[in-house]
Amino acid sequence: MSVLHPDLLTADAKGALPVRVVGRDAALSGAEAAWAAANDFTGKAGQLLLLPGADGALTGALFGAGERFDPLSARALSAKLPPGLWRLEGVEGEAASQAALAFALGAYRFDRYKTKPATGARLAVPGVEVQPLLDIAAACALTREMVDTPAADMGPLQIETIAREIAESAGATISVITGDALLDENYPSVHAVGRAAAPHRAPRVIEIGWNLEKTDLPLVALVGKGVVFDTGGLDLKPAAGMRNMKKDMGGSAHVLGLGRLVMQAKLPVRLVVLVAAVENAVSGDAFRPGDILNTRKGLTIEVGNTDAEGRLILADVLTRATEHNPDLTLDFATLTGAARMALGPELPPLYTDDEVLAADMLSAAKDVGDPLWRMPLWPGYKPALEAEIADLRNDPAAWAQAGSVTAALFLQKFAPETGAWAHMDIFAWNPRARPGWPEGGEAQGLRASFEMLRRRFG
Ligand code: BES
Ligand code: MN
Ligand code: ZN
Repeated sequence: MSVLHPDLLTADAKGALPVRVVGRDAALSGAEAAWAAANDFTGKAGQLLLLPGADGALTGALFGAGERFDPLSARALSAKLPPGLWRLEGVEGEAASQAALAFALGAYRFDRYKTKPATGARLAVPGVEVQPLLDIAAACALTREMVDTPAADMGPLQIETIAREIAESAGATISVITGDALLDENYPSVHAVGRAAAPHRAPRVIEIGWNLEKTDLPLVALVGKGVVFDTGGLDLKPAAGMRNMKKDMGGSAHVLGLGRLVMQAKLPVRLVVLVAAVENAVSGDAFRPGDILNTRKGLTIEVGNTDAEGRLILADVLTRATEHNPDLTLDFATLTGAARMALGPELPPLYTDDEVLAADMLSAAKDVGDPLWRMPLWPGYKPALEAEIADLRNDPAAWAQAGSVTAALFLQKFAPETGAWAHMDIFAWNPRARPGWPEGGEAQGLRASFEMLRRRFG
């Protein structure tokens, strides 16, 4: 997988048509001003106007900057420009590099199932180092493509295959524990949630290790929820809630994209990427409401609702992360519908009790335009996780109401106590189609996390 045109961004501007970034007070030639007026082009942010020459052929374009050019608005450019090579005029330095990345993010199209894929525009950015930008855009594209791919073609085995490719090309190690071997290797919760799936879609724990022999380097663990389809299990989801549940492996897609990026950038860290890949399916062997699950940590969990499956599988892989004594653990999970009720689809809740990590994440998020919003691990809601006949329940008591918070508190019981831990309850989906932002899979908090890691360790 990986969908980006290899020359999406280039340094060589030979033959490129200019896109001039202009504000409302643009100094246009007489002919341009007339053409702009005839087309209602005012220089408003995001507006595009193609410029014809005397013979009617394209000579360039104007792109509206509004009051002040926001480089992130270039995400719409790749969707609006006709195919061919273009170059930005009127944008220099850091803004040019940010605009180039935004352009590359906006160029993502999910055309795997289109018999005639469309070709898009490309951008020349002389003086900008394009490879690191392409790596970031490709990480986001991988994540989005994995999320967009229907569950039938993105099962646990496909996630494993992608993880193997990533590990192999980085010279990392990979181990995969599948099916009943999960019981022997002590991943009882992952097994319980995933065992109802068809045999060729058996549950698995995927672990990538990189630089592990360099014990003087800090260890970063990335943990992802990989529920390839969430029917809700026996407490089945209603149709509308199930429709988009191919995206419930979004957390795993995020940590694989982010992990690949960390290795490509050769950040001086030891890296562990952990994914629990399961299908929350229905069969005679499915785990049931009322069942008590064991966990890798030894805590028992009373299953109040089989639809709260993400926290069950994450419990085991977070415990596994703990065994590496990480200095920093980040987990990504499409964990609750409540996260979206709290903050909507564009703003993922970030949970951590580490003040420095919170500040670092939020400032990186702001600087790269990949927003996160801190939410509290409110201790007052911990009693909502107490169970009648086991140590914990997976469906928090109704009085606590804040479903994303109580889910995060549940994970906290299993998260590493060495080092810092942050959890992102992502939506992994853009429901609002607009140029450069197609409806579908979305990487959230990935670029922010990478920026934070780069600032900390790079
Ligand atoms: N994968 C869902 C959460 C989800 C739903 C994420 C919609 C994004 C969009 C998760 O497994 C789930 O079903 N959570 C339940 C938990 C509840 C049963 C305690 C939820 O949020 O309703
Ligand atoms: Mn669920
Ligand atoms: Zn789920």
